[in-house]
Amino acid sequence: MSLNVERTGERERPDDQMERLFAAGFPEFITADKLIKQYIGRVREWFTDQDLILLDGDDVPVATGWGVPLRWTGEIADLPTGYTDSIVRAVEGREQQVKPDTLVICGAIVRPDLKGQGVAGELLTALRHLADEAGWPRVIAPVRPTLKARYPLTPIDWYITWTRDDGAPLDPWIRTHWRLGARMLQAAPESQTMTGTVAEWERWTGLVLLESGDYVIPDGLSVLHVDRPADLGTYVEPNVWMQHK
Ligand SMILES: CC(C)(COP(=O)(O)OP(=O)(O)OC[C@H]1O[C@@H](n2cnc3c(N)ncnc32)[C@H](O)[C@@H]1OP(=O)(O)O)[C@@H](O)C(=O)NCCC(=O)NCCS
Repeated sequence: MSLNVERTGERERPDDQMERLFAAGFPEFITADKLIKQYIGRVREWFTDQDLILLDGDDVPVATGWGVPLRWTGEIADLPTGYTDSIVRAVEGREQQVKPDTLVICGAIVRPDLKGQGVAGELLTALRHLADEAGWPRVIAPVRPTLKARYPLTPIDWYITWTRDDGAPLDPWIRTHWRLGARMLQAAPESQTMTGTVAEWERWTGLVLLESGDYVIPDGLSVLHVDRPADLGTYVEPNVWMQHK
């Protein structure tokens, strides 16, 4: 498939096409990260150049992905904690006029009917070019391992070591990055923290949560912890840091 790459905000696109693109992306609780709510407005305003859309020959969107620029020494110890911390650091870095040198790929989505056909590889390649264009030597990503939802009880440190018989990473999304030459740096066990009331979690998960304790939830990469007296559900999402060449 020959694809064209544009900045997502470059022009208006039909609503139905965008809805199709996002039709089966993320669980509802993904938006329950309170810190992200504070920062995402500035990301959308300031980092439009790092937000790409891929279009097919008929000008119909097939994938979109975005990232944020920040400064990173290249040392593991200086890595952001994960997705949320990257966004905080990028926004605050821009406010303090820190010159970025690293692109953090934060999100990617492929139209549901085109999954498994290598479109994501093209998207990641286009995102990586953004760093080349800007003269940033480093590209990293807090990768959300998509198959981890089947193993919510397994510690992320173990999960990321799992490989198939052919030696490739077991997780398909880690594998896509890996196939493009990216290497794992370390686990990011607390990449995002989602919180909500018990009623909100019941709505997001479709579960009845009558008692305090840990629950396996649909599409959760780890478990949800419910504290009934505090009327609070907390879910901490693990990712894995990968670095592209
Ligand atoms: C994660 C995502 C971007 C990957 O896109 P993609 O274009 O399907 O990726 P690939 O084509 O490189 O597929 C990767 C592997 O998963 C397999 N796969 C993924 N989705 C599949 C599907 N629906 N059916 C069959 N195989 C699938 C592919 O066969 C491939 O396996 P291989 O390495 O053995 O060839 C896409 O699945 C998606 O949009 N998911 C929802 C949003 C999300 O989770 N984004 C990532 C976190 S930000």
